[in-house]
Amino acid sequence: MRTRFIVGNWKMNKTATEAVDFAHRLTQELPSVEGIQVGFTPPFTALHATRGALASNPAFLLGAQNLHWEEKGAFTGEVSGPMLKDLGCEFVLVGHSERRQYFGEQDTWTNRKVLAALRHGLMPILCVGETLQERDSEHTDAVIERQLRAGLAGVDGPGLAAVTIAYEPVWAIGTGRAATPQQAVPVHRKIRSIVGELGGPDAARRLRILYGGSVTPKNIADFLSCEEIDGALVGGACLDPLSFATLIKVAIGSHPTTAS
Ligand code: PGA
Repeated sequence: MRTRFIVGNWKMNKTATEAVDFAHRLTQELPSVEGIQVGFTPPFTALHATRGALASNPAFLLGAQNLHWEEKGAFTGEVSGPMLKDLGCEFVLVGHSERRQYFGEQDTWTNRKVLAALRHGLMPILCVGETLQERDSEHTDAVIERQLRAGLAGVDGPGLAAVTIAYEPVWAIGTGRAATPQQAVPVHRKIRSIVGELGGPDAARRLRILYGGSVTPKNIADFLSCEEIDGALVGGACLDPLSFATLIKVAIGSHPTTAS
């Protein structure tokens, strides 16, 4: 049984002071969280403050939005795995579409980042997803396969067991136009089968695959009603503590109802 995982991707939002306020208001709304895991990815500058404010709940995991693959050195502006680990991070996003789109992140880089995260005891959440043009031209499967095989190159069995994948169609991110579960599930299946080819049936069975792209408190239950969808990567709806708390409460009460 895969533990469901809801991750709030803060992107470039919230100062450290705002993060502490957010964390206090969220924990008031959610005194206990059981049965699922909840992740937070504040900007680097708010990681320390957020950890302090959320430390009370073991279901809460701290993560970062990016990392560099080297441990240290002359890479101005970059942050490494050991630095994140030292701050209490347990996971890190890799290859988010905004990194690919605005910062030229390539599959070779996502691969180095996945490997670096694993080396330093951080769970990578590798983000994959097609653009609208790629979907319309029926290239979704090919794009996902390329991003996945390239991103996971050289990851061994124990490594695969520590990886989470987020399927985030680019056209659904920040647009208010979420994919339907009927659109997402076949892609989740494809991802699981590719990981099965890479690491065998056990790796495929254990793999957590999150959906991301305009997830809200209103549609989260629809996604989690699908057995193939193990959680969500949430952007806009994670920034307000009330909205995120509502989303988490709905997630806790949601169970798969459709065989997929
Ligand atoms: P969104 O962002 O929920 O605002 O669409 C999701 C993401 O970018 O991870």
